[in-house]
Amino acid sequence: MAAVAVELHGSRFDPARVHAQVRGDALLLMDRVSGRWGTVPAVWVDLLPMTVTASAAATSAAATALREYMIEHDIGTRGGDRSFGTLNTLIIKLTAACNHACTYCYDFEATFGARRIDPAVALKTVEEALDECDGSLQVILHGGEPMLVWDLVEDLVVRSEAAAVQRGKVLRFVGQSNMSLLSARIGRFSVEHDIVWGVSVDGPADVHDHFRVYRNGRGTYADFARSLEAFPNFMRTCGVLSTVTRANEGRLLEVAAHFRDLGMPSWDWTLFQAIGRGRHEADRFEPDVETVVASWVALYDAVCAGEFHGFPVVPVLSYVQNFVRGPGPNMCMRPQCGAARDLASISVDGTIEACDCIDRTGPLAGLGDAKQVTLAQARATPQADTIRGRDLSATRCSTCTWFGVCGGGCLAHAASRDEIPPLACALALTAFDRIAGDLVRPGGDLRRYLASVGADAP
Ligand SMILES: C[S@@+](CC[C@H](N)C(=O)[O-])C[C@H]1O[C@@H](n2cnc3c(N)ncnc32)[C@H](O)[C@@H]1O
Ligand code: SF4
Ligand code: SF4
Repeated sequence: MAAVAVELHGSRFDPARVHAQVRGDALLLMDRVSGRWGTVPAVWVDLLPMTVTASAAATSAAATALREYMIEHDIGTRGGDRSFGTLNTLIIKLTAACNHACTYCYDFEATFGARRIDPAVALKTVEEALDECDGSLQVILHGGEPMLVWDLVEDLVVRSEAAAVQRGKVLRFVGQSNMSLLSARIGRFSVEHDIVWGVSVDGPADVHDHFRVYRNGRGTYADFARSLEAFPNFMRTCGVLSTVTRANEGRLLEVAAHFRDLGMPSWDWTLFQAIGRGRHEADRFEPDVETVVASWVALYDAVCAGEFHGFPVVPVLSYVQNFVRGPGPNMCMRPQCGAARDLASISVDGTIEACDCIDRTGPLAGLGDAKQVTLAQARATPQADTIRGRDLSATRCSTCTWFGVCGGGCLAHAASRDEIPPLACALALTAFDRIAGDLVRPGGDLRRYLASVGADAP
């Protein structure tokens, strides 16, 4: 794209958004709001103070060229930021019941009981979400354990597909399960209807069985192993999701290697959140910040050393992809997070939530009852506005270089809406620093890894 005369951008260019870091021979220029970045030679660092003026007459030709470079690459320009207001993802909590009794489970509040969603309410919500979405909708089948209510899943999927066809919309189902109830019928239906499942396993048996247990305390890893043995092809289409707790905080590299060696297609993580069952005795589960960061660094180093060639290690890739592409599809890693924007969740009792991570007993809970209001009405409530109105200006995010690609961490994991969660922050500070250091230079081990998993590289 040709450079546009800089004077035209006088009011759009905001140099305060641009953070600069010298890294070897390169100068990284990062727009801390939009997450757009670029690199120029490190010697240009002295020109930066002169780029604040739009007047070519008042500055040098080199400073004008640098300013032009930034404007051309949308670094430091107002108005180019993406917004994410259109619904594209719906989480459905099909049942509050589970055959497992993981001791940290956030989906268990004693008061909610073991109920299943009213099928008519589930279908109504999918139809309304199809009406709200732009052209395609992703529905996430969740619980409790969704495979406990398989008849309901089949019925909902078939009816929803018909509703999508009627509206000319694309509908895609994904699901999260402990996979203990996998059967030939479930596998067949899932393949026929393109339902992509994730399986929750926290690590090798001794790690997993620490908190993921039956009511009698017996570990549940054997259920995963049995399904893997009985349905190896199907199971090896299911990405693994591990919850990071005290049990695996220092062993992330070992956990990732375990699932790579089992032939699973990818490994991802979710950080422990002290709600539901995890609310009580949270200290038992809450991972230690320094231990997890050190564990992530060991994982990152192993990824760069080629140990995971061809295997997607999502806790590394998610930061890299956000850095490379800028904020977008990852709705947990951007200033305008998905809650009450591109995401909605419906609980078993029909309560519409902004996100399934929001504490259902806390101040941000409940946008409305799906039996009484539409999804559109729920998303237009003052409560939804409150959630969308997160303000991190009083936190360290207000001056952080990585704000555009980090977003300030999950609001549901923070002590309150306008605070940041310490673990997510410490991880993001470390991850973006390492990734920026590796990607400002051409070539390198991280780029080789990205190519091996088919991920974008700058
Ligand atoms: C609540 S489960 C529901 C689906 C299914 N039963 C399963 O285990 O995959 C969804 C995911 O949330 C994770 N999870 C449960 N409790 C959590 C907590 N307190 N903090 C963070 N993640 C949690 C689980 O490990 C699982 O990966
Ligand atoms: S995390 Fe999943 S498998 Fe474990 S108790 Fe909760 S709903 Fe059940
Ligand atoms: S949460 Fe931490 S890393 Fe993320 S933007 Fe805020 S200060 Fe930066």
